[in-house]
Amino acid sequence: MEKPSNLILVIFGATGDLTSRKLIPALYSLRIQGLMPEKCTLIGVGRSDNTVEEFRKDMEKAVNDYSEDKEAGLNNVPGFVDCIEYFRMDFLIQEEYEKLRLFIERITIERGIGGNIIFYMATPPNLYETISTNLSKAGLGIQKDGFRRFIIEKPFGYDLESAQKLNKKLHELVREDQIFRIDHYLGKETVQNLLVTRFANGIFEPLWNRNYVHRIEITSAESIGVENRGSYYDTSGALRDMVQNHLLQMVGLIAMEPPSSLDPDAIRNEVLKVFQSLQPITEEDVEKQVIRGQYTPSKIRGECVTGYRYEKGVDVHSRTETYVAMRFYINNWRWGGVPFYVRTGKRLPTRVTEVVIHFKQTPHHLFQRVVGKLAGNQLVIRIQPDEGILLKFDMKEPGSGFNVKNVNMDFHYKDLANVRVPSAYERLIYDVMLGDSTLFSRDDEVETAWKFIEPIQKAWKNNPAIKVYGYPAGTWGPEPSNSLIEGEGLEWRYPCKNMADEELYCEL
Ligand code: BG6
Repeated sequence: MEKPSNLILVIFGATGDLTSRKLIPALYSLRIQGLMPEKCTLIGVGRSDNTVEEFRKDMEKAVNDYSEDKEAGLNNVPGFVDCIEYFRMDFLIQEEYEKLRLFIERITIERGIGGNIIFYMATPPNLYETISTNLSKAGLGIQKDGFRRFIIEKPFGYDLESAQKLNKKLHELVREDQIFRIDHYLGKETVQNLLVTRFANGIFEPLWNRNYVHRIEITSAESIGVENRGSYYDTSGALRDMVQNHLLQMVGLIAMEPPSSLDPDAIRNEVLKVFQSLQPITEEDVEKQVIRGQYTPSKIRGECVTGYRYEKGVDVHSRTETYVAMRFYINNWRWGGVPFYVRTGKRLPTRVTEVVIHFKQTPHHLFQRVVGKLAGNQLVIRIQPDEGILLKFDMKEPGSGFNVKNVNMDFHYKDLANVRVPSAYERLIYDVMLGDSTLFSRDDEVETAWKFIEPIQKAWKNNPAIKVYGYPAGTWGPEPSNSLIEGEGLEWRYPCKNMADEELYCEL
């Protein structure tokens, strides 16, 4: 497999959660698969006063705690951690970046590594600009003897203006093809499979439009609360944390026109066109089209669960939303008039992300239904867990007459023998090593997505009368989100943890 001959990966925010839960396990998996360069060093950069030995121990623990590959390769851990270095610094002080440069130069010489460097910003978002600027001032953005690439974690900005400002700043420092704005949903195998399902099969695409699709639903539910990220989350909320990036990117892939090739810009141009065609939700319409909620204390399976306002780092009077549901439209020939329903929330009954394409019903109902309500065909694309695809259709109930019943045709990734589904971060870090930006958000995409979100942010800020509904932790969000769905008797699909078994057995 292709890979660069050498690499220094510098992770800012190395003592944070993201590094131990996602980045280190991903790098470890890449290493086991032989996808890391032969000559490679990871430099963890943090403010904590760790020695390199302490940091290596923490990273070893991270692999043991969070890697899915630990069974396969526990013995490889020591070899892996030996490549890890630690550099303590204050991110705000310019002179410290000079010391970092000298440190990198020393490692380069000592370990005989060439000149490719990736800087990964896994810090709170308000530091991205400072870190990038200081790296540049220290000469670390200049591409000499190899590439220099900057990975920027989401959220990229906190509104349109700050995203534009950050883009402008980054463009002053480095070229767009050196910037990798990460959205880990794009690294998920099942999200990429949206493209393959649509464009590798002749049967779906002719139906994929306003003539046959009644509505599209996307749910991304989490059962966890804000855990120890309360202070970040309270300044973010579900709209910034999930909708502006992960959910809109999924909308882009579901709604886009076929790209002319798999070229990174060919795909991203089509996603951008979708974002540009989103019908703006005016500030006046926000109340009608967007519902926000916040989880309140409750009991889940007999256990008391704290409400959002009592989580660590959260203001007791906070009006930050932990749930958003919205209805919007895409103004183009393919989708004009088709409602898109999107919802996401924390402390919902289960962790599930899925896309549901609801097809229009037959124009005339010839047959009687035996069980359940009249439902059009549905194509459920399950992003996680129990990844797969489910087609729901009606068939004749055996016996006399013409009674019909809704049945399932399903495919589950777990049925594929010997196939290991790589983690999102694994795929994305590997792509940065290769310089492939297909699965990363481009500057104009990010800004256009913010443009769509902006009136919602403004309405919530300017109009305190717009309610933040409470919902008990462990329930499917506030009741008013149901009235977003237009049409008599229509409701959100009730997603089970196991994709296809909802009528027989639904594990939550
Ligand atoms: C992150 C959000 O980007 O995505 C988190 O900041 C959220 O709040 C997470 O929990 C969800 O990711 P996944 O892959 O578990 O669906």
